[in-house]
Amino acid sequence: MMTNVLKSVWRHRPLLAWAVQQIRSVEGDIFPEEIHHVRHSVDKRMHEYRAGRILVRRASRQLGVAAFPLIPDWNRCPRWPEGIVGSISHTDETCGAVVGMSSRYHSIGFDVEEIKKVRRVLWPTFCTPVELEHISRYPSSDQQKAAALIFSAKESFFKCHFYLNRHFIRFHDIEVILCASGKRFRICCLNGDLPPFPDASTCHGYYDSDRDLVFTLYLCEKDGC
Ligand SMILES: CC(C)(COP(=O)(O)OP(=O)(O)OC[C@H]1O[C@@H](n2cnc3c(N)ncnc32)[C@H](O)[C@@H]1OP(=O)(O)O)[C@@H](O)C(=O)NCCC(=O)NCCS
Repeated sequence: MMTNVLKSVWRHRPLLAWAVQQIRSVEGDIFPEEIHHVRHSVDKRMHEYRAGRILVRRASRQLGVAAFPLIPDWNRCPRWPEGIVGSISHTDETCGAVVGMSSRYHSIGFDVEEIKKVRRVLWPTFCTPVELEHISRYPSSDQQKAAALIFSAKESFFKCHFYLNRHFIRFHDIEVILCASGKRFRICCLNGDLPPFPDASTCHGYYDSDRDLVFTLYLCEKDGC
């Protein structure tokens, strides 16, 4: 499944690793202290939560990091242990996790979306007028995918930003600029009150798609790495 872009990101950044899999086929157990946080949840939620943590550990192992429990904060943001940062995302069927060493990354945001769920009627709720205009320039068969990429890019940015700043961003606070070459995106902040990233010049967005899914990754790297 997917992600030549993530593969190439990983190739160029050895301190980054990822794992993506169908939720129903992810095998393994999670720590009791992790289970505690979903003990009252419905099965679907338990399965996606469990899959995310198993994939985090699989990706972390690629970086030589021993298994650790990943506990959510009160706001669901994962509390990454010292030395590692990352991000989890799930759709109804697919789960993915990206992790990186904190010697290199301040924070990581990762997101997967099902294109068909990002219906046209929703676009104005998360797109600015400029983004809507950008979508309209695609052939009509590609417009829903472009909208899904914009939505997903905002979710990735939110996760990356929230981990560092604990600040709630609204969809219309930021604008996504999709750059087809290299499948990258940039984020333009429209709200001057947003706390900045530590090394804003080293933040990069990447995207890819695979049939009915889009994937986005937002990396806030440390300056000088
Ligand atoms: C957190 C959020 C971005 C994505 O959650 P989601 O819809 O369940 O989608 P995903 O499956 O892609 O991501 C869920 C994972 O993100 C992580 N996550 C949850 N809240 C988070 C936060 N505040 N910061 C960083 N990561 C977070 C968790 O690991 C979670 O998985 P888990 O609970 O199984 O550990 C979204 O639901 C949310 O809170 N949105 C409100 C803010 C927003 O959308 N603003 C506009 C964007 S600019």
